[in-house]
Amino acid sequence: MTRVIYLDNNATTKVDPQVMEAMLPYFSEYYGNPSSMHSFGGGVAAKIQQARENVARLIGASPDEIVFTSCGTESDGTAIRAAIESYPAKRHIVTSRVEHPAIKNLFETLSKKGYRATFVPVDREGRLDLDYFYDSLTDDTAIVSFMWANNETGVIFPIEEISRKVKERGIVFHTDAVQTAGKIPIDLKNSGVDMLSLSGHKIHAPKGIGVLYIRKGTKFSPFMIGGHQEKGRRGGTENTAAIIGLGKAAELAKQHLDSGAYRCVAELRDRLESGILARVPHTLVNGDRIHRLPNTTSVAFEYVEGEAILLMLNEHGICASSGSACTSGSLEPSHVLRAMGVPFTAAHGSIRFSLSRYTIGPEIDLVLEKLPPIIARLREMSPFWKSSKLEAVS
Ligand SMILES: Cc1ncc(COP(=O)(O)O)c(C=O)c1O
Repeated sequence: MTRVIYLDNNATTKVDPQVMEAMLPYFSEYYGNPSSMHSFGGGVAAKIQQARENVARLIGASPDEIVFTSCGTESDGTAIRAAIESYPAKRHIVTSRVEHPAIKNLFETLSKKGYRATFVPVDREGRLDLDYFYDSLTDDTAIVSFMWANNETGVIFPIEEISRKVKERGIVFHTDAVQTAGKIPIDLKNSGVDMLSLSGHKIHAPKGIGVLYIRKGTKFSPFMIGGHQEKGRRGGTENTAAIIGLGKAAELAKQHLDSGAYRCVAELRDRLESGILARVPHTLVNGDRIHRLPNTTSVAFEYVEGEAILLMLNEHGICASSGSACTSGSLEPSHVLRAMGVPFTAAHGSIRFSLSRYTIGPEIDLVLEKLPPIIARLREMSPFWKSSKLEAVS
């Protein structure tokens, strides 16, 4: 098999070998139930507590505020449902137009059930329209939920500032930090964030484990009703090995951030981005390049289909993502790029490259070697490209 050059880390990440090592004994050797009275189970409970402390340190929270869930989607759904159940008289909910489907589809479902949902627009750079947002808030607003950073473009919203203002209005504030945790520092202490979601498989822990942070004092009702696990906030026997893995992943992510090593990821991303812009004409970067995750770039190659680019990159073992979703047989550009007003000819040819601490320079060099001829070949075949040339001549 061709060597894989993995630039799709916003989709999922490799489990760190140290995470794997930390988890393994908890499948077969230390399999006790952490709720048991015996010390065999008690040992596992102590390790879970350690994992809780590590996750809390990564986001500047207290361990009691950390609830383990099965994934980012569960954390998002639990937060929104908890807020609307806690304030049943309030019928207005607010989010942005560029959220992940975990929030977007839930808000659409709730709006069909009688909630009034506001989807705050973004500008061409993917930045929130803050005036529109603040004007939308009323005494009827039950919750505001904005992603901290966008999974497609990496654009970061000013969550600390917004959440403090929302808090002053006495409205619950949730943020989806699934793409943010481990990539930029998060300190919840001085923010107005009441609830925050994160997901293990985006930070080199396994799939199937997530976290919901619930600030002390936040009104809450559980989605998974069952045993007393997670202090009654999420029933169900704990996924012990995955929790312990996530604890290790959070510890490593914090070390990585504290040491400044994440700067190397940004340098590689910038090398990739500027290399592409220099070598491939009619190419632009989607979204605000200043307030952006250090590992992500969304590049629009005008007049070509993103899916065709992905297939040709795949022949060289290069993994990336496109900004399109195949709906009802037609390739629709993603709702994120549409909300930003990216022109049709650019949105269709948008590719997301997302790096990790495992990405190395020679991989970037190989992408820069293989990509320009791929785009040139696809453009020769593209009717849009041909007509754009004719327009330029006439
Ligand atoms: C911003 C964002 N929120 C939520 C999710 C869902 O997380 P999970 O896959 O753990 O359910 C993702 C996954 O891609 C994401 O990028």
